[in-house]
Amino acid sequence: MHVWSKLSSAKWRDAWEERFLGLGQTNAVIQELPGGKSIRVDVYCNREKEALAIAEQFGGRVRKVKNVNWAAMAPPSRKPIIIRDQLLVTGEADPKKIEQIASMHPARQILSIPAELAFGTGDHATTTTCLRLIADIAKSHRKKNYAWSLLDAGTGTGLLAIAASRLGAGTVEGFDFDPTAVGVARRNLKRNKARSINIYEADLFEWNSGKTQWDVITANLFADVLTPNMTKLYDALLPGGNLILSGILLEHKDQVLDAAQATGLPEPTTLQKGKWTTLHYCKANSMTDGAQASQL
Ligand SMILES: C[S@@+](CC[C@H](N)C(=O)[O-])C[C@H]1O[C@@H](n2cnc3c(N)ncnc32)[C@H](O)[C@@H]1O
Repeated sequence: MHVWSKLSSAKWRDAWEERFLGLGQTNAVIQELPGGKSIRVDVYCNREKEALAIAEQFGGRVRKVKNVNWAAMAPPSRKPIIIRDQLLVTGEADPKKIEQIASMHPARQILSIPAELAFGTGDHATTTTCLRLIADIAKSHRKKNYAWSLLDAGTGTGLLAIAASRLGAGTVEGFDFDPTAVGVARRNLKRNKARSINIYEADLFEWNSGKTQWDVITANLFADVLTPNMTKLYDALLPGGNLILSGILLEHKDQVLDAAQATGLPEPTTLQKGKWTTLHYCKANSMTDGAQASQL
């Protein structure tokens, strides 16, 4: 593994976060230096050429590292994340502590997602928005006793897939093009007793759903991945199904909206969290039915 590092003024923190933490990467660490005026940005790369490409663009330096203890770099006490009245996501991995948390929150599903080398611990606004929507959809399906299915494109830690499974989804599948993320997600399945989920390595650009269609598709990806794959996502969604597109920077929203509209998807519900947009679509049940995403 190689790390690219650069010192910068603290006033550029947002820009660095957007560049390296906003693009689905959790392999970046931004640390404030003593005095508070400067920060150090470290980006850990599996291949030297990735680190060198960053250096070419932004300056800074590249060095080789043996092992990265990613968990040790995580904030020391990640607060538990509470989603509606249904979920609690903790970074805790110790089964005894998880039991304690569960006994304090008996009505919630407790999900354990320790910090590892994959995106999706629940701390990011794009993930929490997806989790809230999944919780709402799950509640609605539970009321109707409907056995629903979910596909998570770009699954990262597997958190969205695990949440869906624990909230009652029958068939759950997730894929990611990053083999490290796939390994992390599979460990999280075991940890969270959600082994029936199928997690595999695939690139959305090459992925093919065959004839399978899902009730819910989550895709917390960047606009430049979502836009060219919109028809594929549309085709993989069952009529009446929910499509959740997250990870869209405000300035890229229109291109995603246009691509979705071109498939025939009706107007979405838009959820904005700072610079991040989530679009929630509900596919029409038939050509004459203009379903709205708000009708859960
Ligand atoms: C922003 S993270 C989302 C992780 C998780 N689903 C969540 O909501 O927290 C995006 C994930 O998509 C993966 N990814 C990016 N481009 C992809 C592609 N073309 N095909 C499959 N996975 C991709 C990344 O490796 C990363 O794990």
